[in-house]
Amino acid sequence: MEGIWRGQGHGEFPTIDPFDYRETLIFTRRDGLPLAYDQRTYKRNKGQIEFVTSHWENGFIRILENEELELVNAQSGGRAEILIGHIEKLNSLIRMSFVSKALLNDKQVVSTARTFELKGDTLHCEMKMATTKIDRLMQHLTSTLQKVAPYGIRKQ
Ligand code: HEM
Repeated sequence: MEGIWRGQGHGEFPTIDPFDYRETLIFTRRDGLPLAYDQRTYKRNKGQIEFVTSHWENGFIRILENEELELVNAQSGGRAEILIGHIEKLNSLIRMSFVSKALLNDKQVVSTARTFELKGDTLHCEMKMATTKIDRLMQHLTSTLQKVAPYGIRKQ
């Protein structure tokens, strides 16, 4: 996962207009410490040509004592999430799947789920959510990123 990833994403949800976005995701490996990440997205507002910054978040992924994974993040809109997950290896693909354990500072989001699928230098990310309006997990985000640099922030 370590490195800088860039690509395109698509957003949707039953209650909103679909949209496309650009994403830069940086994973920084820190020996013996949780993996750190920085996700920045850029979106075009209606009628505009330029992409402007949209959702940003920073977080950490660590391995728990029971070998589950924990993802903790803080998001630019004020939300914070803790998700619990696991990792599986399927031939040449590595998949990390997470479901929310705690969601803070958001009146709408009830639960979330994320997956990261790593195959060579391609990373496919998905995010689903259930809200106070839509009471089951539905797709909100999907993006496909390519590794553009081998190291994260620490070694640049
Ligand atoms: C990863 C955590 C995220 C969560 C939990 C989240 C949650 C939400 C929620 C609850 C809504 C309102 C849905 C409704 O009105 O029924 C929403 C709308 C939206 N989200 Fe996200 N979102 C996330 C990430 C992103 C990202 C990465 C983008 C990328 C650009 C994005 C773009 C949007 C847009 C454009 C809307 C519709 C307009 C708006 O309400 O601002 N979201 N999101």
